[in-house]
Amino acid sequence: MDDPRWEAVDHYLQSVLLAEDPVLEANLAASRAAGLPAIDVSPTQGALLRLLALALRATRILEVGTLGGYSTTWLARALPPGGRLVSLELEARHAEVAAANLARAGLDDRAEIRVGPAGASLAALVSSGAEAFDLVFLDADKPGNPGYFAQARKLTRPGGLIVVDNVVRDGQVVDVGSGDPAVLGSRGVLEAMGADPGVEVTALQTVGVKGYDGFAVALVRE
Ligand code: SAH
Ligand code: DHB
Ligand code: MG
Repeated sequence: MDDPRWEAVDHYLQSVLLAEDPVLEANLAASRAAGLPAIDVSPTQGALLRLLALALRATRILEVGTLGGYSTTWLARALPPGGRLVSLELEARHAEVAAANLARAGLDDRAEIRVGPAGASLAALVSSGAEAFDLVFLDADKPGNPGYFAQARKLTRPGGLIVVDNVVRDGQVVDVGSGDPAVLGSRGVLEAMGADPGVEVTALQTVGVKGYDGFAVALVRE
């Protein structure tokens, strides 16, 4: 399932709407040179994350799944002076590449990477009584998403947003009998979001340079 127009339209949208950005291009080049998988958010998705952070006037952002820090860069750039982004990453090698990318972007003063399994890092944030976040972006391992959403709920302020990437994955989300842990994780997090009276939610299907996928958004009730 693919149509060449999906990519063409994404490139068109990027060319008319988004400024050329040597820092973001250098980020992607460094991540590919280091052998990191090309699963960063697309430029138009990164721009949406930035707009959401700006609309929330976010001063505290939490990301789960750093990779090379591409989405991190889009998000951290939305922070005002003194703002803070914490990004959680399992792989030390990914975190090293991301740290270099963030330093090159001049964002290492506000973006911090914590290495380790996200479930443990989130539990540590909860138990340490960390100040609530305005925006949480879940984009690590998909089987973990139901658990990450439950922890993100405890870490997001009323009026804050939780965005969950990759919940459609070529439409596999409707494969009811699927034993694929990623599909089960996506169905699990969507069902948890839908059943949670404390949030307003929706999810959208997307096509583009990353194929056919989608994302879900939860607004924590005031
Ligand atoms: N948000 C990034 C892409 C993240 S890719 C961007 O758009 O630029 C998913 C990342 O999650 C990978 O770097 C992977 O190593 C990491 N990951 C996988 N399992 C994890 C876990 N249990 N805890 C934390 N990070 C994990
Ligand atoms: C994969 C992960 C992602 O976060 C993504 O946006 C696309 C693909 C993956 O693990 O295949
Ligand atoms: Mg993703």
